[in-house]
Amino acid sequence: MGSFRSLGVASFIVSSVQAAVSSTGFTVSVTDVDYFLPPKPVAKISGCEEIQASFEDSLFVPFTVVKPKGYGVDIASLTASYAEDDVWQEGFMEALYVQGSSFKPVNSSITILTGTASKALAPGPYFINAAGHVYEAWRLFSDVQGAFTESTIAKGDGSYSVLPAGILGQKLAIAVPSRLYFTKTAEKPLAGVRIGIKDIYDIKGLRTSNGNRAWYWLYPPASATALPVQNLIDAGAIIVGKMLTSQFANGETATADWVDYHEAFNPRGDGYQDTSSSSSGGGAGSASYSWLDVSLGSDTGGSVRGPAQVQGLYGNRPSHGLVELTHTMPLSPVLDTPGLLARNPILWREAAQAMYGSNITVTNNYPTSIKTLGWPTSAEDMADQLLLDFLGKVTDFLSANTTAYNVTASFDAANPDVAPLRTFMNLTYALLITKQQTQLVRDPFYADYAAAHDGRLPFVNPTPLARWGWGDNQTLTIQDAIADKTVFQTWANETLLAPSPKTCSDSLVMYPGSTRTVYRNTYWEPPSVPLGFGNSRISVMAEVPDHVVPLGEAPYNSTITGHVEYLPVSASLMVAKGCDGMLFSLIEGLYEARILKESRVGRSGVTGGEILFRRDVVEY
Ligand SMILES: *[C@@H]1O[C@H](CO)[C@@H](O)[C@H](O)[C@H]1NC(C)=O
Ligand SMILES: *[C@@H]1O[C@H](CO)[C@@H](O)[C@H](O)[C@H]1NC(C)=O
Ligand SMILES: *[C@@H]1O[C@H](CO)[C@@H](O)[C@H](O)[C@H]1NC(C)=O
Ligand SMILES: *[C@@H]1O[C@H](CO)[C@@H](O)[C@H](O)[C@H]1NC(C)=O
Ligand SMILES: *[C@@H]1O[C@H](CO)[C@@H](O)[C@H](O)[C@H]1NC(C)=O
Ligand SMILES: *[C@@H]1O[C@H](CO)[C@@H](O)[C@H](O)[C@H]1NC(C)=O
Ligand SMILES: *[C@@H]1O[C@H](CO)[C@@H](O)[C@H](O)[C@H]1NC(C)=O
Ligand SMILES: *[C@@H]1O[C@H](CO)[C@@H](O)[C@H](O)[C@H]1NC(C)=O
Repeated sequence: MGSFRSLGVASFIVSSVQAAVSSTGFTVSVTDVDYFLPPKPVAKISGCEEIQASFEDSLFVPFTVVKPKGYGVDIASLTASYAEDDVWQEGFMEALYVQGSSFKPVNSSITILTGTASKALAPGPYFINAAGHVYEAWRLFSDVQGAFTESTIAKGDGSYSVLPAGILGQKLAIAVPSRLYFTKTAEKPLAGVRIGIKDIYDIKGLRTSNGNRAWYWLYPPASATALPVQNLIDAGAIIVGKMLTSQFANGETATADWVDYHEAFNPRGDGYQDTSSSSSGGGAGSASYSWLDVSLGSDTGGSVRGPAQVQGLYGNRPSHGLVELTHTMPLSPVLDTPGLLARNPILWREAAQAMYGSNITVTNNYPTSIKTLGWPTSAEDMADQLLLDFLGKVTDFLSANTTAYNVTASFDAANPDVAPLRTFMNLTYALLITKQQTQLVRDPFYADYAAAHDGRLPFVNPTPLARWGWGDNQTLTIQDAIADKTVFQTWANETLLAPSPKTCSDSLVMYPGSTRTVYRNTYWEPPSVPLGFGNSRISVMAEVPDHVVPLGEAPYNSTITGHVEYLPVSASLMVAKGCDGMLFSLIEGLYEARILKESRVGRSGVTGGEILFRRDVVEY
């Protein structure tokens, strides 16, 4: 039963004085669990005489709203499913409000509120004050893995502000509303879904950092919200915070590359593996927190796929151009894409449909040809075994013909005038990201910073600085690089990733994800420029969808723990441009056939488990 105490009032309304004081909400604790109450009451229940005495020693009384489906239902069965909610707890049974019914349950240990609500309340946990104002209960969780850069709370006018609350854990507190408040509808397919946003997307009212502290302070809070984010909000998503990005979305490796901000912590294995980048926070958060459903990242050259691979998550690079990247920091507009990270493939698809809108169509006629790139042919270790098992099951599922495909050999044979591919495309990616980002981001940033700070340069991390400097020295132009990209895309369109009128894509193309260890306490070489061409660049240059799916985990001897630990094993699936909806549907089909599984939070994506053995931290 709820031992309830009020921790304090963040601020308050002084109505008789013309001072600029407004409430930013309240923090309270119920049986030692911390809650945030947004400042605006959601209703008023007048005439609750039965609890007036409680307000003598506390500002708020926690209570639960139930909606009985008929008479004679006992309370225990009404609230049985509430225990699954990570916000509601028994402490909210101090009082009960029965919504929309004259049914009055009999239970002497629970106070029934007899007042009348000013409007209908969704079921779930709430707080009421002496004036009868009803506030929602948002649970506070600690971002112990350092995945967030800013906590957020909607102001109710389309803009957001920083959450004015903190809790134990040495990091930001993130507030999430009870899931009981929300019902998914056709208009709000993401109602109540909690989403974190990579800090390269503007959110109205909040500053954007792009992973750079000088940038964060130089520019004012955003005056508009990036379109991919707005699409998620319009579908009912709850934006819980901005998430860590490597600087200006360039690839950085922990630790030395991450000067302005510290990399987020990958929860898998020994807890000291690199998160990959640039969507470091989105990957770490999705792999660590059951209270976070989906993260929005971005993928220019692997920034969603890398974090998904090394943290055992579903993560997509979409076809290029599915949703306009307004109010979003560019790395290379001809390559930039917004992608989502999630543990559950159905929720992942639902969020994608909301974000890409009419530009994706979910279809379920699948290709019957599988082409593999660099797939193992025999099982040297557990990772190989998982990959071979998966390929066998997908081949059966699709009744497909599977062939090993050699991209370089095929491209070179078809394009003798430009071959070999590895030399032809060696500089293309690096040219596009450096030349476009210096023009679109660095130059205006330096000019604005100099104007504001007496000609000074802002601090920039070693990796973007090295890349930009390399770009300055190249004589080849953006147009040269785009021309090379077009040669590759034309070849891909006609061969490896050709469209099909019947199955959208002629083939399903698969390659294995990374399984090597990258310890974050390693002293690496100075940063270099991302030259070369490999499997992960195919979707980048061909503009096709490339989805990472988690397959399981494989053991390694950790130099941190001196013990066998496990890291995720994953596969990447590609199809023709514009077939994103078919690929989401295929992956959902594999999930329903139990060939793929939901990823767990914690030390293992397969079995869960405490991160760093924090046994004191209760998992809800
Ligand atoms: C009364 O409510 C309390 C709190 O929910 C519950 O533990 C108890 O089982 C209920 N008793 C009856 C008789 O329903
Ligand atoms: C679909 O893609 C096109 C081309 O990128 C874009 O102009 C349009 O805004 C997109 N539609 C939606 C609903 O996002
Ligand atoms: C698989 O390949 C064989 C031999 O090339 C061919 O006869 C068969 O039709 C193919 N099956 C499918 C499903 O494409
Ligand atoms: C692909 O073909 C090239 C020759 O063009 C060869 O050097 C390479 O080893 C082949 N790759 C694989 C994975 O078989
Ligand atoms: C790629 O470019 C770098 C830098 O110019 C060069 O050192 C390397 O040999 C090139 N690789 C290929 C395959 O052409
Ligand atoms: C650019 O070229 C100049 C002159 O050759 C050289 O000194 C400098 O180190 C180069 N910068 C980078 C980042 O490669
Ligand atoms: C490749 O195919 C896609 C999808 O059909 C199309 O949008 C694109 O323009 C094509 N690109 C080239 C270079 O042929
Ligand atoms: C861990 O090290 C032991 C002892 O060297 C070795 O036998 C074992 O195969 C290693 N396990 C893995 C997963 O590498």
